[in-house]
Amino acid sequence: MLKLVAFFLTLSIFSSLSAQDLSINGPWKFKTGDQPGWAVPGLNDSAWSTIHTGASWENQGYKGYDGFAWYRLHIVIPSSIKDKAFLKEKIRFDLGKIDDGDEFYLNGFLIGRNAGKGGTIQSGDWQQQRSYTIPLTDGRIHWDKDNVIAIRVWDHDGDGGMYDGKYGISVMDVTDYISLDMSTDEFHFSAADARQFSKKIVLRSSSEKFDFTGRLNIRVVDPFSGTAVYKQTIGTDFAQDRPFEYTVKTSLPQQGPYRVEYSFEEGRSKKIVTAAEEVPYILTPSPGAAPRINGPEIYGVRPDAPFLYKIPATGEKPAAYSATGLPSTLSLDKSSGIITGSIAKKGSYPVQLTVKNHAGTATRRFTIICGDKIGLTPALGWNSWNCWGLSVSDEKVKASAAAMSEKLADHGWSYINIDDGWEEKRDDKGEILTNNKFQDMKALCDHVHGLGLKIGIYSSPGPRTCGGYLGSYQHEDQDAATYARWGIDYLKYDWCSYGEIAPQAPSLDEMKKPYIIMRKALDKTGRDILYSLCQYGMGDVWKWGGEIGANSWRTTGDITDTWGSMAGIGFSQEKAAPYTAPGNFNDPDMLVVGRVGWGPSLHNARLTPDEQYTHISLWSLLSAPLLIGCDMSRLDNFTLGLLTNDEVLAVDQDALARPAKKVWDKDNIQVWVKELKDGSKAVGIFNQGAQPAKPTIPYSSLGLPAQLKVRDLWRQQDLTSIQKAFTPRIPAHGVVLLKVKAKT
Ligand code: GLA
Repeated sequence: MLKLVAFFLTLSIFSSLSAQDLSINGPWKFKTGDQPGWAVPGLNDSAWSTIHTGASWENQGYKGYDGFAWYRLHIVIPSSIKDKAFLKEKIRFDLGKIDDGDEFYLNGFLIGRNAGKGGTIQSGDWQQQRSYTIPLTDGRIHWDKDNVIAIRVWDHDGDGGMYDGKYGISVMDVTDYISLDMSTDEFHFSAADARQFSKKIVLRSSSEKFDFTGRLNIRVVDPFSGTAVYKQTIGTDFAQDRPFEYTVKTSLPQQGPYRVEYSFEEGRSKKIVTAAEEVPYILTPSPGAAPRINGPEIYGVRPDAPFLYKIPATGEKPAAYSATGLPSTLSLDKSSGIITGSIAKKGSYPVQLTVKNHAGTATRRFTIICGDKIGLTPALGWNSWNCWGLSVSDEKVKASAAAMSEKLADHGWSYINIDDGWEEKRDDKGEILTNNKFQDMKALCDHVHGLGLKIGIYSSPGPRTCGGYLGSYQHEDQDAATYARWGIDYLKYDWCSYGEIAPQAPSLDEMKKPYIIMRKALDKTGRDILYSLCQYGMGDVWKWGGEIGANSWRTTGDITDTWGSMAGIGFSQEKAAPYTAPGNFNDPDMLVVGRVGWGPSLHNARLTPDEQYTHISLWSLLSAPLLIGCDMSRLDNFTLGLLTNDEVLAVDQDALARPAKKVWDKDNIQVWVKELKDGSKAVGIFNQGAQPAKPTIPYSSLGLPAQLKVRDLWRQQDLTSIQKAFTPRIPAHGVVLLKVKAKT
């Protein structure tokens, strides 16, 4: 059965990619420079050098080259590719992604251009897969003869040319025109029974010429047994202007994981288009009516710095908050749980927090440590980048703050961080001004503080930020003072464009320099501003980030919402782990759960539900800052469940700040174990395979005693029957996150 599942998975991943009839991987002819005549088919290019697609021109002998260059390829396009196609309408040229912009010529004729928003190829979008289509009857194609594909490329900064994406020439066939669109609807679950769901799917055609009929088969499959718990076949009929919609409605035998498999068989050609998706399933139980106090056990503040902390407590509201042992210079608002003030004297202040409501009372020890260190546990917050990119605005920040206050603050989430895209020019005194998306930064900070939350900002030590806005170069003191005046609590400090200031291959001291300058500037403000470096791990920053006074530092390049990116980053953090300490954290980049998009339009993160459980579990085991990267004004229940599991968050926030170690790595199963302050251990058993797994992992191989008390943290349930070995059922790319303690 497993074999069958494997077959299906492979099929579904590749179903949308049609087979390429002709390969165009090269070798191509290549020349740097730019001449209109280089598009002409008759040009003698035999003296041009050769190049392959799949690697940048920098990696093929043109190191550091930026500017124009041309690729040319001679290829015979046989008419047999038309003959074997069921539909004979269009031919498609897949030219991969071209860095940065391009013009595509076929036999001297301009077929298409990637010019981005600016309208010229200098403003092309390097991440866009280039697929150009023309009718089979187009006279610019020379069937059964030599054709010349000429591509004029422009590149600035970094890698250039045709090095990534899908390449080939194909006659578009049935499966190229038909798509199974799962993105128009969310899964809807019945409020009364979480096993009942409905979900709309749309069959679309992109063909201007053809209507399609056929059968749509839908199966909901238990991935462990491979058995279908729901099957349906529907007759369909659709066209470009007439999509076919169908809503799957069923009741699952139990909570997930389940997989919905769609397969459409086109009536005439019998060709099949498939797609599949996982049904989200919520593991986190709803918090009860009675209060429960969450958040860290320790909290750092510097002498005389403004203090702001909202006691995170779930349970029904209204609730009454109180505290004993609070330094007299701090005051607590009894109805909101917000503590403000400042502490003059260094020292450790043990406090007993109490929250009462009609359903009960909760108490918890909370130690305020007034000293030189802040951010003793990893930051829990939101950052605008992974959703809004440069389109972040005051309004979007406020919407996020409202959502955090309403839905997440009770679980300990507190930072609202504005990433790049808020800056304007400097005034004549050199003061940084906000752009018109942020009318009044001070008022925004006050608003966020009023909710008991904190607010962060972004800049770069170079003249410009990564998004091309103004950086802090030579204005560090002034910018830090401005941030403090506004009321900023967190600074993410990038590297972009500092490369123009630093020498070509900067020494370690030169790499540290801009961060030390800003550290000093922040120190002068007297405000507690969490300091987060974002230089992607250069110079093994984990070895020196703490020493230069950073609270966190990015260990990697930018994350994206794919399994490859998330798992690639998350599972390779061991090298940096030993440098984690209270107040100094490795940052494997922000979370990619919920609706993300890096720009104005968003999509659901392309991670399966199990991959998302893995993401949050792994980041928590690593003691990583958890910075939500989605649109929080549209948090669905699944994402909310991911972000509000207090027992999982407690692993991240554990006061020992000891990141997990990998203790088992065999047959796609990895086990990571993290020591916790109370003497217990958090154990993450991950399945990196694309199939469900049921490994047997003896406690002894993990260095654990033979008798354990085991608790499933996502389900918040004690497990009674397991002894001597873990034998979990783990979905593909999924995790089982446990807390274990020796049984005495
Ligand atoms: C870099 C960082 C991102 C984001 C952007 C902003 O790419 O790594 O996290 O801050 O800059 O331009």
